[in-house]
This record gives sequence, structure tokens and C-alpha cells, in this order.
Amino acid sequence: MWHAPATRHGFHAHDIESHHFETSRSFCENMIALKLNSRPRDGHGVAETRNEKRARIALERMLPTLEAFWEAEDVEQVEIDEVMERLQRHWPRLFGLLVGLYGEQWDFFYHLEQIVMTMIRGWRMRDESLRQSDRQRINNPGWYTSEKLVGGALYVDLFSENLGKLRDQIPYFQKLGLTYLHLMPLFAVRPGNNDGGYAISNYRSIDPRVGTLDDLKQLAAALREAGILLVLDFVFNHTADDHYWAQQAQSGNEEFEDYYFLFDNRTVPDQYEQTLREIFPTVRRGSFTWHDGMQRWVWTTFNSFQWDLNYHNPEVFRAMLAEMLFIANTGVDLLRLDAVAFIWKQMGTMCENLPEAHEIIQAFNACARIAAPGLIFKSEAIVHPDEVVRYISEEECQTSYNPTLMALLWESLATRDTKLLQRSLARRHQLPSQTTWVNYLRCHDDIGWTFDDDDAAAVGINAYHHRHFLNAFYTGQFEGSFARGVPFQHNVDTGDMRISGTLASLAGLEQAIELDRVDLKELAIRRILLLNASMLSAGGIPLMYLGEEWGTLNDYDFVKDPAKAGDTRWVHRPKMQWNYLDELGDDGSIRGRIFKSLQKLIEIRKQTPAFSGLEMELIATQSPQLLAYVRSNAGNRVIVVSNFSEHPQTIDSNRLRTAGMGRFFEDLYTGQTITTAEDVHLEPYQFLWLHRV
Ligand code: GLC
Ligand code: GLC
Repeated sequence: MWHAPATRHGFHAHDIESHHFETSRSFCENMIALKLNSRPRDGHGVAETRNEKRARIALERMLPTLEAFWEAEDVEQVEIDEVMERLQRHWPRLFGLLVGLYGEQWDFFYHLEQIVMTMIRGWRMRDESLRQSDRQRINNPGWYTSEKLVGGALYVDLFSENLGKLRDQIPYFQKLGLTYLHLMPLFAVRPGNNDGGYAISNYRSIDPRVGTLDDLKQLAAALREAGILLVLDFVFNHTADDHYWAQQAQSGNEEFEDYYFLFDNRTVPDQYEQTLREIFPTVRRGSFTWHDGMQRWVWTTFNSFQWDLNYHNPEVFRAMLAEMLFIANTGVDLLRLDAVAFIWKQMGTMCENLPEAHEIIQAFNACARIAAPGLIFKSEAIVHPDEVVRYISEEECQTSYNPTLMALLWESLATRDTKLLQRSLARRHQLPSQTTWVNYLRCHDDIGWTFDDDDAAAVGINAYHHRHFLNAFYTGQFEGSFARGVPFQHNVDTGDMRISGTLASLAGLEQAIELDRVDLKELAIRRILLLNASMLSAGGIPLMYLGEEWGTLNDYDFVKDPAKAGDTRWVHRPKMQWNYLDELGDDGSIRGRIFKSLQKLIEIRKQTPAFSGLEMELIATQSPQLLAYVRSNAGNRVIVVSNFSEHPQTIDSNRLRTAGMGRFFEDLYTGQTITTAEDVHLEPYQFLWLHRV
């Protein structure tokens, strides 16, 4: 039974005189709706579930606290109505998740209320301009599946020195056609090695070397104006060892010791390590680091200075929720959830991809729906493909990196054979509605061969040997290889490694330039364009690592910087060479050609509704070197045919006719007309984007 709290929103005589009686009515209606929820639902006769009932009662008990907040903050009634409507809508889900994660805590209700108030405070700090975009996005679900989205990622310091100068580059992003910009972590970091910004010492301040919070907000507003989404990281698996929380833990503050995983001796770490994977084996063996000051072991999945946060503690969830909303309120449209796989630990497991990791993310998602509904998530799970998809849903991460497509595009390029890629696309490309992939060829990280061993076996490939082959190929060790990659995290025990290198160096441009061979340069450029055309057409948001758009080569100078020397990923994170900009107009230069071709591909992608969403049907061809598929969306169709080899190929015109439902096609890229009266020929590494005419 619902009792109105004795506050201004209850039915009290003084309200009748007070001017806000009228305005408070709709809130009262909300309250009545809350009460109505306990009855069988209209028409359906479905009774409130046990979770719904408990959720309702829990929320009812918090109303006095909320009331006090509205009062103290002088919140307007329309605003209250708006946020309360969302809170009520998403609350049963959030409540259910939090009960599942933390319901056993003796002080659960305290934490629950703290979480709600953190959410409400985060919402309260949100600018009206962001709230407007929240409303638009609520009315346009799935807005991020549009063909208009094309992304770029960069490190602010390496790209333009600082945030102010980055704002001056907006015309450049527009020239390239970008509508999504991911700034690599730019928050305050620990001194020295900071893992490319992923060792954060304060989520609420910007690394002074690149600017201030104000600069970020101004940039966000300018990007919004230019129609470019802003993407930042939410590095929520760990903090730097000099974050305030970690410092407090180091000085023996009990409350903050519980923010991390600390152990007096090796007993428990040894038990965990029996089932853990080593992520950075060349940095340190195992997953724990001895801390001299505390005389304790700390859980550090990545570098020794990155301390894993303990989400078994609801206070950590609440604290990170506050940081998340703070970041969102700077004007971020999409948060990249870093290292999602690792956020929950359980003895006897790999401590990766555990069910609770999903529940934590879903809980953050529900909070976002209430406090910052325009915000969406991207999952960074560079794990087995079966696990990657488990993070993707409208209620968890609406978008996700597509590491399998990335790895298999490179695999096809090495083998000149698309069978494994085709198998994966056929079985793994579709996602739930209102979700999408983020497709990429290179990012700031290494390439790992995350395909499924059974998929490989099904097409006659031994996964173990194949990974060794791919590593040899991309580090240039394999006879005849065109690639110039560098090993990353070579594990001497298992022989495992991952690959660093820029797109252009991995695709053969570095070698071709070194050998000064015109023919090899031509092939390398074609490979670069072929991979980009695949990324732009496969379905999902394409995301480039900036510098790729003009064929940046590996930069081996990183070894001169002691903070970078131990991490080969810096080979593919060079400083942007703006002096090359002059060459971009020049078709004759390699950089100019790559840039202009990409610019054109991006433009076409954005003008082609068939590229929206993920709908894809593979077309069988007789040559394994070819990859062919139809992309369709709302009655629009485009056929994509790609030749992954340096030899010409032919595709049977009957297949195109059937797939494209026509006899004449135009290649959107070259403008060339293709008739299915005869078989269609593809040059080395050529691709076709065919549209019926
Ligand atoms: C993510 C980042 C990577 C970083 C790691 C630890 O995987 O992409 O660069 O090293 O998280 O934060
Ligand atoms: C591992 C992690 C991934 C991270 C990468 C950094 O693959 O799974 O999250 O990006 O290491 O190299």
C-alpha cells in the first residue's frame, strides 16, 4: 500500500493554497501510477511480479529522500516528471540487477539509495542541450545504426597537441567525412608510463598537457554543432596506482582498501592464478603485483600500475557510476567500455566474461537510460567471438568492436582465401535489433587472432598452426610475406603473441617503399583500399585510426622514449605528420591517392541506405579468393564483391543477376556499368559496390 510522504508532493492542505499545486499534480499522477503498478495491469490481467513488487516498495521508501532533493535543489516540476517517468520505467530492471549483484549485503538498502541519488545528481548536472538530444534519441531508438556514421580515433597529443588545436581540425574531419570521433583517454594520468592514457588518476580532470575540462566541453559543443559524435573511454576495470582511491588504500584507509583486491600473501593470488590468463606477460608474470608500501599483493590484470577495481563492493559501482555520469555530462555521446571482460572475479574461473560482468554493465546501462539516455555504450571485449556477442544488446552495450571481422579480414589478406571469413560472417554477423558493430582494421591496440577454433576446423584449418602462420606472416617471417608487423606480448611459455603495426605497414606499403618497387606499391595501396571498402560496407559503424587515411607507416622511434619503449603498440601510434597535408590534393602521391579514395568511399557509404543496419546475405562464388555479399535495408540493395588476391578473378554473372535482381549494375565506386550478359572480371584486389540500374 502506497502512502504519500508528508511533503509538498503529498496531498496536504497547504498545497491547495500554494501555487505549485497545479504543477505538482503530474508528479502525484506518477505516484498514483506507481501505486497502480501493484495491481493487475490493464486489460492483460498480469499480476506484478515479485521483483516488480519489491522494486516498487524499495523505490517508494526512497521517495522522501528524493523529495528532499527536489526541495533542496529547487527542481522544476516538469523536470521531476521527466526523470521520474524514466526512473519508474527502468527501475525494475536496475533493481533486479542490483539485488542479484549486491542483495546479500547487510546494508544493501543503503547502497541502493546511494546509487539512486548518484544517478539523480548526475542527471541534475546535465546541461539542457544534452537533455534535448536525450529526448531526440529516446524518440529515435537505434539512431546509431545509421549508414551516416563513420568514425575516426586519435590521441589528442599525437594528433594535434591539445584540445584547442583539435577543435581547429574539425574541418579536416568533415573533409574526410567523419561523423564520430573517438578521443583516446585524455584524463589525468600517473607520471611516466600510463598505458596510452589507460592508467587514470582522476576521471574528472584532463591531462594538463592536452587541456582542461572547459576545453573538452567546448570541443564537445563544437563537434555537436558539426554533426560529429564524441566518443570517450570509460576505463572502469582499473584505476592508476596514484588515483585518490588507491592512495587512500595505500595509506591504510579501510574504506578504500575495499575498492581494490589486496592480499597479505601469495596464498589466494596463487589459487586464482591457477585459472587466470596472462594479459601482459612481458610486463610481469601473473596477474598480481607486490606493493612495498602496503606490504601486500594487488590485483593488476594489465600493467602493474593499473589496479583492478573490486566490483564486489557496491560502493565501487556507485563511485564509478558517478564518474561515468560526470564524463557523460561533458558532452559525450558514446562511451567505450574498456576491458569489459575483466570486471568480475571468481575463484576457479578465468575471471573473464563472468555473468556478473554482464550484470554490472547492464546496471550501468539502466542508469544511463535514466540519467543520460542519449548516451550509448561500446563494448571493448577482445575475446572469443562467442563471448564478444554476449555483451551486445540494447540493455547492455548497444555497439561493440568487431574483433573477429578485423582479424579475419587480415587473415583473408594473408591467405588469399575468404572461407573462414565467410563462415564467420554467415554465422556471427547478425546481432539483435537496435545494436550494431563497430568495424575496424586497426586501432591503438594490437591484433590478436580471435577466431573460433571450431569455425576454423569446419573449413579444414588447424587453428593452432594457423595462428602461428599468421604471426609469422604479419611479422614478415613467412617467406613471401608483404607485412611489416612487430610482435606484441610474446609469451615465451606458450609461444603466443599478438601483432602491432599500422594498416599500411601490415598491408605491404612499408616493404614496397623500402624496395622501391612500383608494382608492389600498387598492390599495397589496393590492399589498403580493399580492406577499407570491406570495413565500410560490411554493416556496422566503420572506425579508422586516424593517420590510416593517408597510409601512415610504422614509427620505430617509440623505443627512444623510456615510457613507451617496452610496449610495441607505440609503433602504430605515431605523431600525425601535418606537413603531409599538402600532398593530399595530389593524386600522384601515395598519400593523396589513399586519402582521396577513402574520402570517396566514405561519401558513398553515407549516401547508400543499403549500408545501414547489418542485413547481409553471402553470395557463393567459385573462387575462395572472392568475398561476395548483398547488403540490404528497407528495400535498398547493394552487392559487394571483393577480390582478396593479387590475381584477377571472375564471378559468374548469373549469381550477380539473382542476388541483385537485375541485369545492369553500376559500380558506385568507379561509376562503371556492369552487365550480367557476361561474367564479371575483377582485377587484383579490386572491389565492386554494385547497385542495380
Ligand atoms: C584496453 C585498451 C588497451 C589497454 C587496456 C588496459 O584493452 O584498449 O590499450 O592497454 O585496456 O586498460
Ligand atoms: C587483451 C585484452 C584486451 C586488450 C588487449 C590489449 O587482448 O583482452 O581487452 O585490449 O589485451 O593488448
